[in-house]
Amino acid sequence: MTAPDSAPRPAPTLSPLPRRIFMVGATGTIGRATLRALLERGHQVVCFVRPRPGAGGKLGPEECRQLFPRATVRVGEARDRESLARDGFCGERFDVLVSCMASRSGTPADAWAIDHEAHVRLLAAAREAGVFQVVLLSAICVQKPLLEFQRAKLAFEKVLRESGLTYSIVRPTAFFKSLSGQIERVRRGKPFLVFGDGRLTACKPISDADLADYIAECVDDERRWNRVLPIGGPGAAMTPRQQGEQLFALFDKPPVFKEVPVALLDVIIKVLSALGRVIPPLAAKAELARIGRYYATESMLVLDTETGRYDAAATPSTGSDTLVDFYAQLVRGDPAPERGDHAVF
Ligand SMILES: NC(=O)c1ccc[n+]([C@@H]2O[C@H](COP(=O)([O-])OP(=O)(O)OC[C@H]3O[C@@H](n4cnc5c(N)ncnc54)[C@H](OP(=O)(O)O)[C@@H]3O)[C@@H](O)[C@H]2O)c1
Repeated sequence: MTAPDSAPRPAPTLSPLPRRIFMVGATGTIGRATLRALLERGHQVVCFVRPRPGAGGKLGPEECRQLFPRATVRVGEARDRESLARDGFCGERFDVLVSCMASRSGTPADAWAIDHEAHVRLLAAAREAGVFQVVLLSAICVQKPLLEFQRAKLAFEKVLRESGLTYSIVRPTAFFKSLSGQIERVRRGKPFLVFGDGRLTACKPISDADLADYIAECVDDERRWNRVLPIGGPGAAMTPRQQGEQLFALFDKPPVFKEVPVALLDVIIKVLSALGRVIPPLAAKAELARIGRYYATESMLVLDTETGRYDAAATPSTGSDTLVDFYAQLVRGDPAPERGDHAVF
């Protein structure tokens, strides 16, 4: 499902040098928006998708072709080097690789298979196809890697940085969809859930469309080449408590919070980790609980490595869409975005 668009966006300028782009991850939240942004700039895009793409495998290749009428859709397996060459690149030349591909579950095995190994194979196949530039969607949280999916992403970032190809590694803060899980709770009169007092963390939320524009502009903007690019949305950083206050104001209700102790997550992690030693699927659940704990306690802002503190002022901003405007659209009844497997609340 597509998240609601905010205010009409000005038409972007056409790329002075339209490129032939090979894209993976075009069926994801940011991938769809990025594909749109690339096409609007006049680039020619071939999207490589798996046979049953979309959240929960809901889309077929034909639906993808209908969804992306101005792009070429090719079907194959991104983890398989032969399929990449035969079904994806097809012996043709490309200028740029754009990847918004990432594990949907974030479990350690899937993260290493997709965020690292599939990308390593993809990079090799892309190089053979003449690609000289790579734009990679990563995540700001890899600056403090405590989780397996972050280590997997970092490992590929290193491969890319050392590849000799021109690269832009885009590390965004928090997406709107990841901060929109409590609208129905609040509509139904329930309290807004926060960890601790709701002020343990902060982020500069970024919309799909603003991030997509930023990613697409990496193709032409030489200032973004060979750089790791942390990026947030416009305005001041917001804590979860401030997000809740904004939501209650939109519903014209007095704010009511339920404070969840972080220690509760610690207990869940301990129990699942212990059980995971005998029941392997529970080890993956323990990692998902660790992911939840990470986002409950770490800000999605640039980390000052000297002080160990997150720094809102040092976190660059782009775009014009605000989380509050996005909430307002959802409160009015626009369809909620698909939130994926990382959602905690
Ligand atoms: N959520 C946040 O707040 C946040 C903040 C900063 C950074 N990020 C990062 O942003 C990235 C993308 O986020 P998103 O929300 O756009 O992701 P998403 O909606 O889950 O989309 C993931 C994309 O990767 C593709 N993919 C996954 N497994 C694949 C496989 N085995 N073979 C081929 N393609 C595969 C998916 O294809 P299918 O449609 O076939 O599944 C889909 O196109 C992630 O790296 C995430 O860590 C997220």
